[in-house]
Amino acid sequence: MSEHVFGGEWTREKLERVSKYLKAYTTIFNVNERAKYFTTYFVDAFAGTGDRTDSSTPDPSETPLLEIESDPEWAELQKGSSRIALEVEPGFDRYLFIEHSKKRVAELEKLKALYPGRASNVLIEHGDANTVLTNWCRQTDWQSHRAVVFLDPYGMQVNWSTIEAIAATKAIDLWILFPIGQAVNRLLVNRKPPPENWANALTRTFGEDAWRQRFYKKTVQQSLFGDEELETKTADFADIEAYFLERLSLVFESIAKNPLLLFNSRGTPIYLLCFAVGNEKGAPTAVRMAQDILRP
Ligand SMILES: C[S@@+](CC[C@H](N)C(=O)[O-])C[C@H]1O[C@@H](n2cnc3c(N)ncnc32)[C@H](O)[C@@H]1O
Repeated sequence: MSEHVFGGEWTREKLERVSKYLKAYTTIFNVNERAKYFTTYFVDAFAGTGDRTDSSTPDPSETPLLEIESDPEWAELQKGSSRIALEVEPGFDRYLFIEHSKKRVAELEKLKALYPGRASNVLIEHGDANTVLTNWCRQTDWQSHRAVVFLDPYGMQVNWSTIEAIAATKAIDLWILFPIGQAVNRLLVNRKPPPENWANALTRTFGEDAWRQRFYKKTVQQSLFGDEELETKTADFADIEAYFLERLSLVFESIAKNPLLLFNSRGTPIYLLCFAVGNEKGAPTAVRMAQDILRP
């Protein structure tokens, strides 16, 4: 098994919910007469290796090897999103895994070989998720295809323009892990606006720089040298969440109103698991399913 160490309890929460949705999605596309017409895709744009070893996992050196290997529950916890997707029944017609680490791409190739029944329909792209996804969105025939895209970055790697390209297809259901505490809230420094490179990253993430007015307040303070203009942060997690959901709502047909806030082991919010759907006809069912799955 490859060693890709990340996450904790929140990782399990995230993957469990996304995998429930994948199963519900492929079931609908297999039984519904109208939906059967479409070729379905699952896109894992930050694919990893297919496996994970998180901090809550017992250290193999401290646990008898045979015990670990024969415990199906433990094996289940080790699965990453691409492996989970490959095991979903009924399956998707096609899989696209994007990963920018060469080493992890090699692991994904090995993973693909473990699923011979699916392998000919699995495409692994080595590259930047934003570039590969944007091109794929533009090149795919959306009259005959439908997709679920999972964006699962560590930090602020997803550009707003990529989200726009996904929404513009009007054929994609999107699950996105928004790094609300992991990155965004940290870049929003307290007593002054963020430095230029952080500000640029925030603008790339939100697709506009209106976050400045949303998250900061200007005040004038009198000092010995005259009036001094101060900009201080007013935003809390709820404000950041509301703004990101507002941005998603502007480009997608509909979104889940109850995104799931995920916390680290110290109880600090780190990610927000969000869902958005681009297709008008599919939206009510998709959002109902996602909201159900997102319930705490
Ligand atoms: C949180 S991990 C993904 C975990 C995976 N979804 C899973 O459940 O197993 C993020 C992955 O994105 C990859 N990555 C980071 N930046 C990327 C980029 N710009 N484009 C594509 N992959 C990227 C990292 O190498 C890492 O494997």
